[in-house]
Amino acid sequence: MCKHFGTDVGGSVDITKAREVLPTNVKPLHYSLSLEPDFDKFTYDGTVVIDLDVVDNTTDISLNTAELKIHSTTVLSGEQVIADSPALSHNEDDQTTKISFKQTLPGGTKATLKMTFSGTLNDNMAGFYRSSYKNPDGSKGWLATTQMEPTDARRAFPCFDEPALKAEFTVTLVADEKMTCLSNMDVSSEKMVDSAVTGGKRKAVTFSKTPLMSTYLLAFIIGELNYIESNSFRVPVRVYAPKDRDIEHGRFSLELAARTLEFYEKTFDSPFPLPKMDMIAIPDFSAGAMENWGLVTYRVVDLLIDEKTSGAAVKQRVAEVVQHELAHQWFGNLVTMDFWDGLWLNEGFATWMSWYSCNVFYPDWKVWEGYVTDNLASALSLDSLRSSHPIEVPVKRADEINQIFDAISYSKGSCVLRMISKYLGEETFMEGIRRYLKKHAFGNTQTGDLWNALSDASGKDVPKVMDIWTKKVGFPVITVTEDEKSNAIHLKQNRFLRTADVKPEEDETLFPVFLGLRTKEGIDEELALTTREDNFPLKNLDFFKLNADHSGLYRTSYSPERLKKLGVAATQGLLSVEDRAGMIADAGVLAASGYQKSSGILSLLESFKSEPEFVVWSEITNRIATLRSAWTFEEESVREALKQFQLDLTSDKAHELGWEFTDADGHIEQQFKSLMFGAAGVAKDKVIIKAALDMFSKFKKGDEAAIHPNLRGSVYAIALANGGKEEYDAILDHARHAKTSDERNTALRSLGRAKDPELIQRTLALSLSDDVKSQDIYLPISALRSHPEGIRALWAWVKENWTELEKRLPPSLSMLSSVVSITTSSFTHKDQMKDIEEFFSKKSTKGFDKALAQSYDAITAKAGWIERDSEDVKAWLKEHNHL
Ligand code: BES
Ligand code: ZN
Repeated sequence: MCKHFGTDVGGSVDITKAREVLPTNVKPLHYSLSLEPDFDKFTYDGTVVIDLDVVDNTTDISLNTAELKIHSTTVLSGEQVIADSPALSHNEDDQTTKISFKQTLPGGTKATLKMTFSGTLNDNMAGFYRSSYKNPDGSKGWLATTQMEPTDARRAFPCFDEPALKAEFTVTLVADEKMTCLSNMDVSSEKMVDSAVTGGKRKAVTFSKTPLMSTYLLAFIIGELNYIESNSFRVPVRVYAPKDRDIEHGRFSLELAARTLEFYEKTFDSPFPLPKMDMIAIPDFSAGAMENWGLVTYRVVDLLIDEKTSGAAVKQRVAEVVQHELAHQWFGNLVTMDFWDGLWLNEGFATWMSWYSCNVFYPDWKVWEGYVTDNLASALSLDSLRSSHPIEVPVKRADEINQIFDAISYSKGSCVLRMISKYLGEETFMEGIRRYLKKHAFGNTQTGDLWNALSDASGKDVPKVMDIWTKKVGFPVITVTEDEKSNAIHLKQNRFLRTADVKPEEDETLFPVFLGLRTKEGIDEELALTTREDNFPLKNLDFFKLNADHSGLYRTSYSPERLKKLGVAATQGLLSVEDRAGMIADAGVLAASGYQKSSGILSLLESFKSEPEFVVWSEITNRIATLRSAWTFEEESVREALKQFQLDLTSDKAHELGWEFTDADGHIEQQFKSLMFGAAGVAKDKVIIKAALDMFSKFKKGDEAAIHPNLRGSVYAIALANGGKEEYDAILDHARHAKTSDERNTALRSLGRAKDPELIQRTLALSLSDDVKSQDIYLPISALRSHPEGIRALWAWVKENWTELEKRLPPSLSMLSSVVSITTSSFTHKDQMKDIEEFFSKKSTKGFDKALAQSYDAITAKAGWIERDSEDVKAWLKEHNHL
């Protein structure tokens, strides 16, 4: 039985129309850019010479600038100056400067634009900015670095700041001799010059000309740096870090990068085109990492790792980030989306690719199993909100663009690729990728170009099955009913919303759904549901499950009886790890949105008590955590009973695994022990609490090795839940003096667990103090969400300190958005939501309106859930003697 796809997206909007772009009268070909920073004044001087193709006769040139002071402007037609100091008009709103002159630049000729300018080495982690670290004598050391994506190259220098306006770049940096200067390319020459800043001599370092590339991938860095180098790849690979870091902590990433580049070159059949690859740890960094071509920048924790003091999960994160950024060197850098509405092509692919190569390099990590509780879960979670958006979404302005670096572009994007790669087969998929890269190298693409390459390679009509997934918002829930007489299942698809209030006009999309029907005969990969509903005959109804390995983007709603049978099938080895984790996730989410009763999921969880696998347990503990956090503001007795349930469920497993670590423990086993220790420990397992407090007391006396890195977060949480000021001070002190960023972050991240009102206030004050860099504000406040007192105090504090927060976290970056999300999304009642709405009704929500709308939807969903199931949950807890 094989159904064919016959759906058509039809009538979808042309997203290219919404773009706010520069006029097309001229095109940049080459930039010669020279910059000299002043580390005393935190400013820099710059000169840019841009070679242009004149497309049409014109008397003006518009390009992007933001917060730059332009000192001089000259326009040449060929060799001839046609305008010296022409009129400039700056438009702050769309961040452009228009240069108008009298003489016409004739179409079809070449022109040159020369500008001198100065800017601020700002402390906002955008454009050309400053970042600091501590010198051994306690003084601050400075470096100058860049973050251009998405639209901050214009903050560093005047440019045509759009991804499709690719050009070549020749960069020169002028700095003191002791400084290391880095850019995308290798150094081509170095000479001493007269400095405009110091009045004395300084070195001018010029880098080789880049290939054709987009402005957002440009990078330049000046600082006192150490490095290590690997020569195991065709071109040298280096890891750099400021002098305060142990450069050996870059070894893991360095070796991995060299292997990854070699693997990608081969897999993509496309040589890495640059003469070197540098990766550098930056002390102040707004994202996790940035894929600048040939000079990837990282947050310190995402590049440097001390394997002796960091756990398995941290190592996996570093591996993921390194492989993600290196995947971008092809996907994003060599071939670039033509505008930001195609961001998913960059981020979705880099995400998928990092999983793919991680699975090749570390097969024992079984990363694809974890994909279901990671990317698939995030994608379905955000996309179940009314405030979600299609993968391909029209965006215009910087504050909009930043907001789509979200679970839709990354996780849903990668899920869509996982889906099509399974459908075509990984080999065919990769052949399509090779064709795509070859055809569009140094160019720009739209989603359709990728689909065409995959169609080419597979002979299948890929757009027909994929268009809907990227153009339409949401995903379906498939309701399964069974007809025993005819041995058939009936499937019906409807849009899924967590708030369970889908309107007919929101439920018009019919998704082409790969069913992945698993029976005792195996998996039927061909079967698809392309209509609203259909019947599918089976051999018998003894055993079946949809969405094998959860490679499809949908939830499945079974009858309570079938769900029970699947719970039994899980114990009989009939389901894969992905199946078991995914099935629990589906059941849990569907219960939370009213498709089933919550008592059903509680029973299902209980039936998994003897489950042997880490990933499945991570979903089980997720489900309890989700329920418990929705019930945060409910009666104390019910909350206690839920905690008791968690204890009952997790305790045996935690004890069976234990919390001793040896060299024989595998990567997954380490994380498994860590997960269960934490889950049972925070649910007040007495033996674990005692063990944790013993470890903590040794640690407090200076024996840092007393707490194993895999347990550190949980031990802190337990110490804070069962202690007071003394424990808090010990952890804070450790945060201040920790040798690695990971240790520091773990300590900062736990402080919010303390419930004492005075300690809550200290945690809040800490996040805006000099102890915490702006990049880390979210760390201390995050754990406040683990208790109702913390959630309330956090929100009150945000209201009080809004002006300061807005100042510290510019809305054009993503940090304000995450603070808003952290501080609002934990509420669960309508009246709480009203308070939030009222507060923001008088404020500009620029830069975080999406996050806010998503919080409202999340709160609405929880409020509905509690209303529906609060009695049901209570009754189940009573029946099972927890209440
Ligand atoms: N291109 C992004 C960095 C970025 C994010 C720039 C947001 C501008 C705005 C980079 O490739 C990235 O995706 N980094 C991730 C890490 C990755 C492993 C998911 C990040 O920063 O967390
Ligand atoms: Zn990325």
